[in-house]
Amino acid sequence: MEVQCDGGRYILFKERTVIGQAVLAGDRITGLAIDPRWRRHGYGSFLLKELLRRNGGYDRAAPSLFYAPLPRPDDAAALALAQKFGFTVQGDALCRRRVPDLTAVELSHRFLRDSLPSGGLYLDATCGNGHDTLFLCGLAGAHGRVIGLDIQQQAVDATNALLHDNGMSGIGRAVCCDHRELLRFAPPGSADCVMFNFGWLPGADHAIHSTAGSTLPALRAGLEALKPGGVLAAVLYSGKVIGSSEKQAALDFFRALPLKDYTVLICEFANWSDTAPLPCFVLRRQH
Ligand SMILES: C[S@@+](CC[C@H](N)C(=O)[O-])C[C@H]1O[C@@H](n2cnc3c(N)ncnc32)[C@H](O)[C@@H]1O
Repeated sequence: MEVQCDGGRYILFKERTVIGQAVLAGDRITGLAIDPRWRRHGYGSFLLKELLRRNGGYDRAAPSLFYAPLPRPDDAAALALAQKFGFTVQGDALCRRRVPDLTAVELSHRFLRDSLPSGGLYLDATCGNGHDTLFLCGLAGAHGRVIGLDIQQQAVDATNALLHDNGMSGIGRAVCCDHRELLRFAPPGSADCVMFNFGWLPGADHAIHSTAGSTLPALRAGLEALKPGGVLAAVLYSGKVIGSSEKQAALDFFRALPLKDYTVLICEFANWSDTAPLPCFVLRRQH
């Protein structure tokens, strides 16, 4: 089976024969039909799923919205198909709305998006595959600057490639460097944001991960780099491979910061397991 897209028309082929089609106009699915000889074999599901998938309907990181006309009241199969894919009746139409799952990283992004001005200096102190660096470039905007750091060259290369592919090379770049040395890239009091997402590089050797020995000096350097009003964001991890000493040391460090200088948030996902990623924020107060 194959689905070909021609403008907003999604055409379902079985071998070389067209057996169905669906039409998407903006966010409206205006029609979906399967040849009567091929109904009740799951082809409608296949076509609808493909149309949704190709238009971001299963993207876990971005919201999506689709409308479709209400089926006739006697068309139980069409209604069942719509319900199977999460459409609900809204007024005189069907609607499917999805919002991204709230993860520790997504929470950090939302918090930073709401807290930071564009045009500043942003540091991603654990750039990994570059997703956070790319996010910071979007925040920084054309007049901002983003530096990504990682101890693994393959992470630096992946980040620079991602920035290039997304047209962000003019705003951000990644450098191979231990994050303990981050003040080389952001002198004291210069950064709007320093972001850490500890742990290992996804898709690479899990034995190479951050540790308390480098994390604490890096957090100290990160706070020193912040401007008044700046934010340090950190996602902490624990578990079988990584243990819990790094997370515990970082938590002790955060909890001991003086209230007159910093506001500290530790945002636990309270009904997840103890090893759930833990987003933390340190806001440098303006005196
Ligand atoms: C969970 S990944 C980061 C994910 C990344 N922010 C992204 O969006 O893809 C953690 C990264 O921290 C890096 N790292 C570990 N220790 C480091 C250190 N001392 N200095 C700089 N980077 C370090 C690892 O190499 C790994 O790539």
